[in-house]
Amino acid sequence: MPGPDVANSWPPPVKRILLTADQIQERVSQLAAQLQRDYAGRRPLLVAVLRGSVVFLSDLIRHLNMPVCLDFVQLASYGDSTCSSGQVEVLKDLGTDIAGQDVVVVEDIVDTGRTLAYLVEELERRGAASVKVCALLDKPSRREVPVRLDYVGFEVPDCFVVGYGLDFAGQYRNLPYVAELSPQAYAPQEE
Ligand code: PRP
Repeated sequence: MPGPDVANSWPPPVKRILLTADQIQERVSQLAAQLQRDYAGRRPLLVAVLRGSVVFLSDLIRHLNMPVCLDFVQLASYGDSTCSSGQVEVLKDLGTDIAGQDVVVVEDIVDTGRTLAYLVEELERRGAASVKVCALLDKPSRREVPVRLDYVGFEVPDCFVVGYGLDFAGQYRNLPYVAELSPQAYAPQEE
């Protein structure tokens, strides 16, 4: 059983801060500068993967001094060792025809890579002119499916991370920093 109503406790039970708000903000502005250089003279379509990436997206785009369009998808991935990208369900599809567009996928975290592998393949299948990936966090130790990340904010270790868009049981997305959740939040409690 999880700890006593931990998902509703505030402040959250944090083991350690992995990335401070200042570190994140500095890195996000660097990523935006890189995007702005690479997409100079073009108008990329930023596709954010709901829900976790909304915080990263909203900070990132305010550093972009260039035309951009936005769209959103929501996907649910279920592990399946018999299939490279597992089972991915589309909970909310794009609202845009992406044929011929320069797409930048915006993700909060890449873990097994299943969600991203599915999405990149689908975007290419729909005729995007180019597809690049911008992920704030990369957890390479968990990778099951190879994916190419073009822009990465930080690598994180294999632990339960929350904050800056990432949740535990729907909570803690609004933290301005990224933290490792204390195991008391999800591990069985001793009597
Ligand atoms: C997280 C994250 C990625 C995906 C990465 O989303 O935002 O989309 O998992 O995992 P993968 O590399 O193993 O596929 P999640 O399904 O937790 O939804 P959320 O963003 O709504 O929290």
